[in-house]
Amino acid sequence: MEYKNVSAFINRKAETEYMEIWISEEPKNILFFYGPKSSGKTTLIYKFIEKHLTDQKKFSIKHFNLREVLIVNYEDFLQRFFQVEDPDEKSTSQSRHYDLKVFKLTVASHQKIKNKQLDPFDVMKAELIDLNAKGIRPLIIIDELQALDFIYFNSQRELIKELINFFVAMTKESHLCHVLLSSSDGYFIEKLYNDSKLKKTSELFEVDYLPREDIFYWLNNLVKESNIKEYLLSQDQIEYVWEHFGGSIWEISTLLGKFLTVCQDGKVPDDQMRKVIAKYMVQARSYFEEYAGLKKHLQALFAEVHKKSAKGFFKETELGLLVDGGFFTEDKLREELNALVQKNFFYYNPTLAEYKLQGRSMEIGLEMYLQEMEKLRK
Ligand SMILES: Nc1ncnc2c1ncn2[C@@H]1O[C@H](COP(=O)(O)OP(=O)(O)OP(=O)(O)O)[C@@H](O)[C@H]1O
Ligand SMILES: [Mg+2]
Repeated sequence: MEYKNVSAFINRKAETEYMEIWISEEPKNILFFYGPKSSGKTTLIYKFIEKHLTDQKKFSIKHFNLREVLIVNYEDFLQRFFQVEDPDEKSTSQSRHYDLKVFKLTVASHQKIKNKQLDPFDVMKAELIDLNAKGIRPLIIIDELQALDFIYFNSQRELIKELINFFVAMTKESHLCHVLLSSSDGYFIEKLYNDSKLKKTSELFEVDYLPREDIFYWLNNLVKESNIKEYLLSQDQIEYVWEHFGGSIWEISTLLGKFLTVCQDGKVPDDQMRKVIAKYMVQARSYFEEYAGLKKHLQALFAEVHKKSAKGFFKETELGLLVDGGFFTEDKLREELNALVQKNFFYYNPTLAEYKLQGRSMEIGLEMYLQEMEKLRK
């Protein structure tokens, strides 16, 4: 049976071209994808691998999606990045050997690493050298890098720094492999940046929400791009969707699914469309309401952010009134902004040091929240 509302893959031409050039050049720096929550970073990586890197005689891809695992200590880290070879599997052919998505480790080396007699990065490097000697290009991809923030901030800061510095050595210094890191937590990226050798050794590349023309193309081509045959949207309706969700593809694809439940005679009635969208906006408003509750300093923060982000973004330095007014100390303000980035209220762009609300729906949610607070005050 065929699915309706299948995952689309709209445009990303510029991003794909950028990656094609990056992979064709000798490794020189770490490529760092960042971008708002659910902007399509992971999908772009998968599509790129699918299209360009499937030839295992040419490429060896070490692909770690850290969202799928919980990493809370050094052991978890090792387990995630290495696979201990089963000695009984000695007969496996050389080619199968390099199909592994992780680094391989003999039982003996694993023990040595555990006893700290062997550096895991030396093992990684040896495999990269080996692959290069065989004419195979290794590529290390770590997606959802923010999953490492727990061990970074709690126990293994040195380890993560070492990992990043290892990648710098493998790219900029020895040119042994391409490294692509990806995260939606710009704040964590910045922390890593400041603490390790990432500055001037990595290239930050933003994978943003889709622009207006892409959303219009998508919503005008629902059969082709999403296998939705049940309804067509009018231009006014498409405009309405754009006004409420901007280029946030994940929210739009969920919305398209909701429209399937209310469409009639090949259309989505306007009143139904508005009702469905209003629910999302109320939900976004509730996020602010629940988070701030009766806490005056958070209410003040949200009000100030709303004022300062009328131009589309805000900067920490524009929130001085919150410190002067005694709502936050400077450190507490930064901590709170960081927490709000992690909780996906805000998106932080580390190259510009700018914050944004996490998408158009959150902007509207914030407006609604503040209006409601105003009403309560009267
Ligand atoms: N170019 C695209 N066109 C249409 N839909 C897309 C596109 N890219 C991604 N999507 C859809 O958007 C959703 C989010 O994509 P994805 O998980 O790749 O984002 P992400 O940036 O990796 O998210 P996160 O910030 O959580 O890591 C998925 O359902 C995916 O199918
Ligand atoms: Mg992702």
